[in-house]
Amino acid sequence: MDTAAPGRDAADMSPAPAPRDPRHDVLFEPVAIGPLTARNRFFQVPHCNGMGYRDVSAQARMREVKAEGGWAVVCTEEVEIHPSSDLTPSIEGRLWTDEDVPAVARVAEAIHRGGALAGIELVHNGMHAANLGSREVPLGPSHLPVDSTHPVQARAMTADDIARLRRWHRAAVRRSLQAGFDLVYVYAGHGMSGAQHFLSRRYNLRDDGYGGPLVNRMRLLRELVEDTVDEVAGRGAVAVRLCVDELTGAGGLTRDEVTEVVGTLAELPDLWDFMVGDWANDSSTSRFSPEASHSEHLRGLRALTTKPVVGVGRFTSPDKMVDQVRTGVLDLIGAARPSIADPFLPNKIAAGRSDDIRECIGCNICVTGDMTSSPIRCTQNPTMGEEWRRGWHPERIAPARSASRVVVVGAGPAGLEAARALGQRGHRVLLLEAGRELGGRVLSESRLPGLRAWRRVVDHRVQQLAGLPGVEVYPASGTTAEELLELGHDHIAVATGARWRADGVGRWHTRPLPVADGAPVLTPDDLFAGRRPAAGAGVLLYDDDHYYLGGVLAELLAGEGYRVTIATPEPLVSAWTVHTLEARRIQARLLRAGVALVTGRALAAVHTGAVELVCAYTGDVTTATADCVVAVTARTPSTGLYDQLLAARDRWDDHGVRTVTALGDCHAPGTIAAAVYAGHKYARELGEPADPDGIGFRREVTALSDAF
Ligand SMILES: Cc1cc2nc3c(=O)[nH]c(=O)nc-3n(C[C@H](O)[C@H](O)[C@H](O)COP(=O)(O)O)c2cc1C
Ligand code: SF4
Repeated sequence: MDTAAPGRDAADMSPAPAPRDPRHDVLFEPVAIGPLTARNRFFQVPHCNGMGYRDVSAQARMREVKAEGGWAVVCTEEVEIHPSSDLTPSIEGRLWTDEDVPAVARVAEAIHRGGALAGIELVHNGMHAANLGSREVPLGPSHLPVDSTHPVQARAMTADDIARLRRWHRAAVRRSLQAGFDLVYVYAGHGMSGAQHFLSRRYNLRDDGYGGPLVNRMRLLRELVEDTVDEVAGRGAVAVRLCVDELTGAGGLTRDEVTEVVGTLAELPDLWDFMVGDWANDSSTSRFSPEASHSEHLRGLRALTTKPVVGVGRFTSPDKMVDQVRTGVLDLIGAARPSIADPFLPNKIAAGRSDDIRECIGCNICVTGDMTSSPIRCTQNPTMGEEWRRGWHPERIAPARSASRVVVVGAGPAGLEAARALGQRGHRVLLLEAGRELGGRVLSESRLPGLRAWRRVVDHRVQQLAGLPGVEVYPASGTTAEELLELGHDHIAVATGARWRADGVGRWHTRPLPVADGAPVLTPDDLFAGRRPAAGAGVLLYDDDHYYLGGVLAELLAGEGYRVTIATPEPLVSAWTVHTLEARRIQARLLRAGVALVTGRALAAVHTGAVELVCAYTGDVTTATADCVVAVTARTPSTGLYDQLLAARDRWDDHGVRTVTALGDCHAPGTIAAAVYAGHKYARELGEPADPDGIGFRREVTALSDAF
C-alpha cells in the first residue's frame, strides 16, 4: 500500500499559478474607501449565515477563510443594534449592549487575520422585526403590521423614539469600532430596515418633519449617516446600503426618488452599496435571473457621487466583473453567493486560474440556512459553514495518512465530489459510471427549464478530476458486486442514486395508493428518460415533495403543450421554496404558463381518466379528470449493488476490501447539496481516526451565567 509522501503539504496540491489574464488586471487595482484602502475590487457584501450570535467562532472562521481567499473587504451579516430590532428566530449578528462586543470582535479579528478589511452592517429592522424574543413593540414610521404574517403591529415612532433610535445606532457604531471594524454600514435595504421604511411612501404615512415630501422621508437616513460619520470620526469608513428601487411602482420607493437621495447625500458616506428590490429580488435564483441582472437599475447612480460604489449580481465571470468597472456601473464587485460557493474566487482570478472557480449555481440553498435558523450550507461548496466546527478548508485538505485504492460507483453529485476530494488527498480512485455521461441526477435536472446553471456542479468536478492523476474515470461502465470484489480495492463507495416512486408514497401517504390497472402514472425519472403522456393529455402532477422539482416539471409539461394541473397537500405549490426565496415567483410563473394550481389536496386514488383528491383539511374526497398522473413524492435509494456487497461481507477479506459505504441519495435521498456534502465528508474522513460515538464536530456551548 502506498503511503503519502512525507511532509507533503495539502496546500501544495493546488495547481501552479499561471500568469493572470491582463484583461483582469483592473480587478486588482486598490480602491480608496474614505481613509481605508481596499487591496482590490472584490467586496464580500453583508450576508447572514444562520450562525450569527449563536455560532460565533464558526462564523468568524468562515469570514476569515474568505479574507484569505482574496476578498479585499469582508462584511458581517446584518447586526441588530437593539432588542426592538430582534429577528428571532433568525440568528443574525447582535450588538445590543457592550456584552455583545467580544463576539463581533472575534469576527473582525478573524477577517483581519485573513488579510481583509472588516465591515459591519448595523441595522435597526424597524417594522420588519416582530421582536418575538425580546417582546418589544416594533417601531416603524407608521401604525402598520410587521411585514411577516406574525400577528404583530409596529407603532408609529414619536420624536422621542427617533432620538432614542439615533442614540442606539450611535452606541452600536462606537461598539463596532471598539470591536475593531474598519467599515461601518448604515442599512436602508431589502425593505428590512427602519431607515428604508421611513424613506418609502409605502410605509411612511407620517405628516411631520419625517414624512411627506422626499426631503422629509430621507431625514432619518441622513441623520443616521451623519451620526455615524461623526462617531467614526475618521477612524474608519462609513458605508450606506440602499435599495435603489422597491420595484413596487409609484406607491413605493422609486428609482427617481433614489436618484434624488443619492444626489443629496452623495458625499456624506465613504461608500455606496446599492441593491435592488426586496431580498427575493436581490438574491434571485438562476431559475429567474441571469448574472448581472441588477446593473440596469444602477446605471447613472455612480455619476452622482465621487465615492466608490459597490453592487451585486451573482458575479462569477471575471469578464463580466471587468465590464461593470469599465462601463462605470461599479467600482467594487460585490458578492455574497459567489463568495460562498468559492471563497477563493479572487485569488483564483489573480493566479490565472479562473477555470478553477467553483461557480455559484444560483440555487439559494445558502439562503435556507438563514431561513431555517441553521448554519449556512452551499451546494457547490461543501465546506461552507464547516470551517471551524469540522476544520474544513475549501481549498486545502489533509493528505491521506496512507493512500488507499478506492472505487467509487456512480458519478452523480456524491460520487463526483467523493472522487475529487479523495483524489485531492492522494488516494488512488477509480470512478465508474453506468451512464455515458457523468453527472447523475444533476445532468437530468439541469436540462429542465431554468436549471441550466446547476450543471456547474458537474462541470466543475469533471474539470477538477482531469487535473488529478490518481483518479481514473470510466463512463459507460456499469458494474456488479462480483466485479467490484474481484477488483480488490481497499474501499468501495456506492453512490448509485435513487429512483422516484410511482405508488404515491411520500409525506402524505406512507402506504401505496390505489392505482387502476393500466392507469398511466409517470415519475420524474420517466420524464428524464424522455417518456411523456399522450399528446395533448390532461396531466395531474401530484407534488408531495414540495421543493422545486414538481413545479419545474409542471412548467416543462405546460411548455410542451399539455394541460397541466399541479396538486399538493400544502397551501403553496413548491412550498419549501419559501426558504429559497422563490415561492412567489414559482406561483406566478406557473399561473402565467396556464398551469392550474390546486393546493390543500392530496392524491387519494388513480383511476383510468380520473383521480380522487382528498382535502388536506376536511378529508372530503372529490374527483377530477386526468389522463395521466405525474407523481413527485419520495424516492427509493438504489441500493441493489450496495446490498449485494453487504451480503458478501464474509468474502471482503479474501479480496482485500476493508469498507463498503453508501453515499448520497443511495444512502438517503436528499438535496444535491446533501449529496455533495456526503461525498466530501466521506473523502475527508476516510482513513482518519474517529470516535464512533462522537458527534464529529465542535460546538460553542453558551456559558452559563453566575447569577442564578
Ligand atoms: C445567505 C444570504 C444572506 C444574506 N443576508 C444579508 C444580510 O444580512 N444583509 C444584507 O444586506 N444582505 C444580505 N444578503 C443579500 C446579499 O448581500 C446580496 O446583496 C445578494 O445575495 C445578491 O448578491 P449575490 O448575487 O452576490 O449573492 C444575503 C444574501 C444571501 C445569499
Ligand atoms: S448554495 Fe447555491 S446559490 Fe448559494 S452560494 Fe452555493 S451554489 Fe450559490
